[in-house]
Amino acid sequence: MPNDKPLATNRIAILISGRGSNMTALLDAVRDGRLNAEVAVVISNIETAAGLEKARERGVDTLCISHKGRAREAHDAEIIQELQRRDVRLVCLAGYMRLVSGAFVRAFENRILNIHPSLLPAFPGLDAQRQALAHGVKVTGCTVHLVDEELDHGPIVLQRAVEVRDDDTVESLSARILAEEHRAYTEAVARVLNPGFRVEGRRTFLSE
Ligand code: GRF
Repeated sequence: MPNDKPLATNRIAILISGRGSNMTALLDAVRDGRLNAEVAVVISNIETAAGLEKARERGVDTLCISHKGRAREAHDAEIIQELQRRDVRLVCLAGYMRLVSGAFVRAFENRILNIHPSLLPAFPGLDAQRQALAHGVKVTGCTVHLVDEELDHGPIVLQRAVEVRDDDTVESLSARILAEEHRAYTEAVARVLNPGFRVEGRRTFLSE
């Protein structure tokens, strides 16, 4: 039977668990023509995630696939199926508070992105901004990276630095990093969707 589905092009999916401000930044960039992509679906593992409502308001297809009471592999398998059904080419984790399984990483090899609020490999895991302040660094920032099986670890696509001020609190520092995240994520998605993007070991490149 001929496959009448269009070839996957710039179709992306966004996975969230919470407020979804990075998701909103990506949706706005697509809407305003600053990002040449089509958002096929927004998926949340949390039914009450505020981001889901924001996506619906913008007319984007949304799904809630709860992880509650399920093995990681079974939960991920359902997500993979929904993504493949929609010919998704790139998966953007945006405040998605779940580790993805090896099967998920393999199904979308070098096609899953995550954003993290520090200059990795410094301060992986939770509360990266608090970790940065506690360590006393003068510069921190955000990282967009490809997802592998280790937490906050895969090849780096893009980083943006943010200066730490003497009077910073976790809140003030987080707010300045978040503003940078929104710009960085849009840029990183465009980079990865560019046909000149390539990955060699831990390094990524863009040849125009
Ligand atoms: C962001 O700081 C992101 O770097 C981290 O989780 C937060 C999500 O925020 N992974 P939002 O849901 O995109 O507003």
